[in-house]
Amino acid sequence: MTATSASEMPPAAGFSQMIRVEDSLGGTPMLAPERARQFCAQLEAGYIVFLPVSPIAISQEDRELLLGRKQTGSAYHKNIAYRPAEDRVTGLDASEQKDAEVLRRIMQKFSKNAVKFIGEFLAPYAGKWKLDYASFRPIEEKGRPARVHARNDLLHFDSFPTRPTNGSRILRFFVNLNPAQSRVWVTSQTFEAFGPHYAKVGNLLSSVSGNPLSRGLRSVARALHLPFGSRPPYDEFMHRCHNAMKEDAAFQQNTPKHQWDFPSDSAWMVFTDCVSHAVLSGQYALEQTFLIPQSALVAPQISPLAVLEQMAGRPLTL
Ligand code: SIN
Ligand code: FE
Repeated sequence: MTATSASEMPPAAGFSQMIRVEDSLGGTPMLAPERARQFCAQLEAGYIVFLPVSPIAISQEDRELLLGRKQTGSAYHKNIAYRPAEDRVTGLDASEQKDAEVLRRIMQKFSKNAVKFIGEFLAPYAGKWKLDYASFRPIEEKGRPARVHARNDLLHFDSFPTRPTNGSRILRFFVNLNPAQSRVWVTSQTFEAFGPHYAKVGNLLSSVSGNPLSRGLRSVARALHLPFGSRPPYDEFMHRCHNAMKEDAAFQQNTPKHQWDFPSDSAWMVFTDCVSHAVLSGQYALEQTFLIPQSALVAPQISPLAVLEQMAGRPLTL
């Protein structure tokens, strides 16, 4: 099955669309510069770029280990994070520690290959990003128990509570490793179309935009590596917006949605800070996150930061 929209009609303006890239692959294509720039522009506007055949090679042996069929035979029970800057995995239970070295090696290889691919596919961003974590997601998403703010089956824009981006954008690259089952997402309106609504509701924006003094204090706290007050107003807004959306049962139920099925061995990339998304089902995905600074964006004027700063009439970063 291919990625499809549940509705007959393609999504309307203001909703995320999908671009299917058939011819990418069997390696890392060097795109014509104008095509790469166009992909960046489309991603920044809230498109999902879908590759029916993942460009990332993963050996059969590594797959079997990740799917829990090999070596220890133990299935993994939590998402596993890989921190490229430190070259280490986190999130392993005590019983899984014996797999730490082999998982580190697999995740390192995935992360390097994802970086190489994205660096060529989205050449305008190459080398300008801050490489964030990669992850392995071995848990079935359907019915996964979680606190409301941690539920990924509710529509949201991504915001990392402990890793503020200070206006950089969150680009994520996924591979569905499941040999039999699609990973199923729904999306709704983009941040550009919908974020301002949440900015107005409950004065969310003015309550975080702060005054020059509190901005100054936050900078000092950040310079001293103090956790208190160190989240920039932009991240504070995105975090509150993330939570407010998940708490809003009427919005979750009533907002128009499109469903996308990502089949076995497909890959997709998306700016999850502007694509409202939820994962309904699926098990075993690999993912790499890139933080793209404003200066590297093809269309910085439509970024969530620009949308919010225009509304606030003041800078929202530190
Ligand atoms: C999310 O970012 O909400 C999770 C997406 C996924 O794991 O497919
Ligand atoms: Fe998310």
